[in-house]
This record gives sequence, C-alpha cells and structure tokens, in this order.
Amino acid sequence: MRIIVLGGDGYLGWPTAMHLAARGHEVWAIDNYLRRQIALETCSEPLIPTPNLTDRAAIYQTLTDQRIHVTIGDCTDRTVMAQLFAEARPDAVVHYAEQPSAPFSMMGYDAARRTLRNNLEATFNTIWACLEHAPDCHIVKLGTMGEYGTPNIDIEEGWIEIEHKGRKEKFLFPRAAGSLYHTTKVLDTDLLWFYVRIHGLTVTDLMQGPVYGLATPETDLDERLLPNFHYDDIFGTVVNRFLVQAVAGVPLTVYGSGGQTRGYLNLNDTLQCVELAIARPPAAGELRILNQFTETFTVNDLAERVAGAGRAIGLDVPIKPIANPRKEREQHYYQPVHSGLIELGLEPHLMSEEVLVAMLERVRRYADRIDRARILPRVRWN
Ligand SMILES: NC(=O)c1ccc[n+]([C@@H]2O[C@H](COP(=O)([O-])OP(=O)(O)OC[C@H]3O[C@@H](n4cnc5c(N)ncnc54)[C@H](O)[C@@H]3O)[C@@H](O)[C@H]2O)c1
Repeated sequence: MRIIVLGGDGYLGWPTAMHLAARGHEVWAIDNYLRRQIALETCSEPLIPTPNLTDRAAIYQTLTDQRIHVTIGDCTDRTVMAQLFAEARPDAVVHYAEQPSAPFSMMGYDAARRTLRNNLEATFNTIWACLEHAPDCHIVKLGTMGEYGTPNIDIEEGWIEIEHKGRKEKFLFPRAAGSLYHTTKVLDTDLLWFYVRIHGLTVTDLMQGPVYGLATPETDLDERLLPNFHYDDIFGTVVNRFLVQAVAGVPLTVYGSGGQTRGYLNLNDTLQCVELAIARPPAAGELRILNQFTETFTVNDLAERVAGAGRAIGLDVPIKPIANPRKEREQHYYQPVHSGLIELGLEPHLMSEEVLVAMLERVRRYADRIDRARILPRVRWN
C-alpha cells in the first residue's frame, strides 16, 4: 500500500514509518519538528540524541535498502498537504501529527492556543487533503483513551446505545477529557465524525492509552534509529519516566494517592495495532473506533513493577508520592472494553519484569545524560 505517516519524526511516528516500510509498503513521512521545537523551548530534550528525520531515513535506507520519502513541512499548511497527497496518492494515512503533551497544553494561554490550533488544523487539513486528493484513503487517526475520562460506568469502544423515553439510538460514547490537549482529541473525533457522516470518509479512530518502550525490530538495527525518548514532566509518559527515575536514583514520582488507573501498551503493540487497522479497514464511509491498550494499571502498580525490576538488577528504587499537579480522580472505577483490536489479531506484548529490565538496562547506558532538574512537575492544572 501507499501510506503517509503524519508526525513521522515522533516517538510513535518514526518506528511506525520503519515498520510499515519493512513490511513492503511505500511510505511517506512528514514532520515539522514541532516536538523538537517545544522540547527546546521547555528544556525537555530527550534522553537519547536522535538524528533528524531526513538523516534517520537515510541511515535506515543504507541499512535496509528501504526508502522512506521525507517531507519537512507543516500539516496545518494546506499547500504542503495538497502536494504531499497529490504525490503519494495514499491508500491510508496515519495521523500522529499533534502536540501531545497534556502539561504543555495547560501551561497558559499561548501553549493552549498553540495546541488547539495545531491539533485541530492538522486534523482538518488531513480531512480536506483526503476529500480533494484521495477520497478513498483510509484515515487512521490517533486519539486517546483520555477522551473518555474516568466515568463511573464501563467505557465502550467509541459508541454507546442509549434508550431514552422508549426510543433507542447509537451515539459517540460521552467524553470528559482532563486537559486541553485531551480535549483537542475529543474535538478531532467530532470533526472526523462530521465528515464521515456528510462526505463518507473512511476513518479508524484509535483511542490509545499511554505507550511505553524503546526498542522495536527496526530500531534494534542501529542505536541512531531509536525513537525520541522523553523522561521529563512535559513529554515523558509515566512508565518511561519511572524507568529513568529508577536509574537516576530519584524516588518514583507517584502523583497523589496513585490510584489513577489507565490502559497501557508496549510500543511494539502500537505498531501492530496501526498495521492491523490499515490491513483490515472498516467499511467505506464508516467511523470505526477501537480502544488501543493491552493492560490496565494504577500508578501505584506501575511504581511497584518498576521498583521490582530495578531491584532485580541491583537498583534501590524508592517510591515517593508527591502532590498531584493535575486535576483528576485519584480513586475511581475503570473498566474499558478493548476487544476490537484483539479480534483483528493483536497479540499483546505484556509488561513483564523482563521487558522492564531490558528497558532499564538500555536507559542505564545513557545515565550520564539524565538531568534530574527535568523530573519534578513544573505545570499545575490550577
Ligand atoms: N505516546 C503516547 O503514549 C500516546 C498515547 C495516546 C495517544 N498518543 C497520540 O499519538 C500521536 C503521536 O504521539 P507521540 O507520542 O509520537 O508524540 P510526538 O510528539 O513524539 O509525535 C508527534 C509528531 O508530530 C509532529 N507534528 C506535530 N504537529 C505537526 C504539524 N502541524 N505538522 C507536522 N508535524 C507535526 C511533531 O513534531 C512530532 O514529531 C499523538 O497524536 C498523540 O496524541 C500518544
């Protein structure tokens, strides 16, 4: 297939581009380095230095003979998107190109507006690039489990049937996001649903949980092909952060009472899920929503697991709850359905001690690059 990866320089976008190329697809990757720019502005550079997208694609091509076409450009620019879609004539587009940091989106007016405009406009332009240049293209959009919030009922896969005064109708599952970033994802879903209803676009919206991991079969070819790996409070996701804290000898930063429960998945499973979504698309003109995670944990569970893996390799890993900078429920019901991707063929890589130990050992090689000043939260929700 001919596939465009939007946000191809990112933590998920770069491994996805390589993974799809390795499976024989023709891949185009576009990125405007927004994440690198915000990381510089907020002193949140990644643990492992990563060559830029053009250089990484060249390294990958030298090693494998597989070409990833690179565009350095902004998905909010209609001309850039029109040129890319007209050239690639994609069968599928994987849309990762958003500002994904919840803390950044809560830093103040400028950061919130930048997040809102970037994310909504990138999605809007993706929709219009498809309408104008590739109407049969399947849009695989990365949403987040955070769209649903933590309701006191089971979370369905995107849709819920409601009976009201004796009549029934299927609606999008109610959303209640906990940050401005997550709210942009809710708005993205509404935008996509509108264009599916009115223009018959074909869309898979993947409600993904926090991802952890570093290595994939393609990144294992060369250390320079590793994805961005952040451990700071702005871009770091919780498991990746805890692993770096464990190596640095900093107490694991559990926010509040640590009962916050979420669905997690390994980076390799993100690759599998996206590949499955592309290989087995929904019916034309359908909005399919799949909940993309493999296991649920509380923050306390995660801290215990990372501490246990640390002990297995001789690290002393204390855990120290700190005041929660976010506004969120710390103890709550959490029961999301996640059978759709398993039915499509997902074979989960679970969070075993072996997996955590391998990551700790990898992080240990970069221990001298850890900046402890980047660990404690700098952004409060109010
Ligand atoms: N990493 C996770 O745990 C996780 C969990 C749930 C959902 N997601 C979603 O998956 C997607 C990818 O996340 P990630 O962790 O790889 O983030 P990332 O920031 O590493 O990747 C996003 C990439 O998109 C690029 N980008 C942003 N706006 C752009 C624009 N206007 N034009 C071109 N490029 C642009 C950035 O420069 C970056 O390289 C995001 O949409 C995120 O919301 C991620």
